[in-house]
Amino acid sequence: MIRLIDVEKSFGKGDGKVQALRGVSLGIAEHEMVAIMGSSGSGKSTLLNIIGGMMGMSGGNYLYRGKEQDFSKQKNLVSFRRNEVGFVVQYFALIQDRNVFQNVSLPLKYQHVSHREMRTRVERILEQVGLSEKMRAYPDELSGGQQQRVAIARALVKNPRLILADEPTGAY
Ligand SMILES: Nc1ncnc2c1ncn2[C@@H]1O[C@H](COP(=O)(O)OP(=O)(O)OP(=O)(O)O)[C@@H](O)[C@H]1O
Ligand SMILES: [Mg+2]
Repeated sequence: MIRLIDVEKSFGKGDGKVQALRGVSLGIAEHEMVAIMGSSGSGKSTLLNIIGGMMGMSGGNYLYRGKEQDFSKQKNLVSFRRNEVGFVVQYFALIQDRNVFQNVSLPLKYQHVSHREMRTRVERILEQVGLSEKMRAYPDELSGGQQQRVAIARALVKNPRLILADEPTGAY
């Protein structure tokens, strides 16, 4: 499903240049679950961000379902994220002035899912993460773990082929 070949990622230039990933190669099969471990600053989030199409790479190749991806183009990154990926980011970035239902339904809005279908799917996923009662609550009215579950629901709601979770149980 995923093959990275000699992936490089650096940030900045000159004296301030940081080489976050140096020659990373890996393969991940469909239905496989992979945990990435390493000390703080070792490049885990950077690697996940590249796998999830959040940013392009400085070098190397990315094959997704057998096809070489050109992530130097912003529009390729956007459509990849929208169609393939559910991402639970490290600091889960809920939209503060939208309630739980609205936060979780956002990815479906981008996919132009009908209102009726949206309701059904959001209600089902909120039930799965145990937050049916909090559908109308705002993020600042929730506990840390509850906010985290909202972020997980938001990543799962479009039933993505690829689920990426950056320390999904560690932020609080
Ligand atoms: N946007 C950026 N600009 C400059 N340097 C960055 C940027 N993002 C990450 N880095 C650097 O790249 C390296 C890897 O960072 P990354 O966030 O991938 O680490 P991590 O393994 O996820 O760490 P943690 O466990 O603390 O979350 C670090 O040295 C970091 O300072
Ligand atoms: Mg990280």
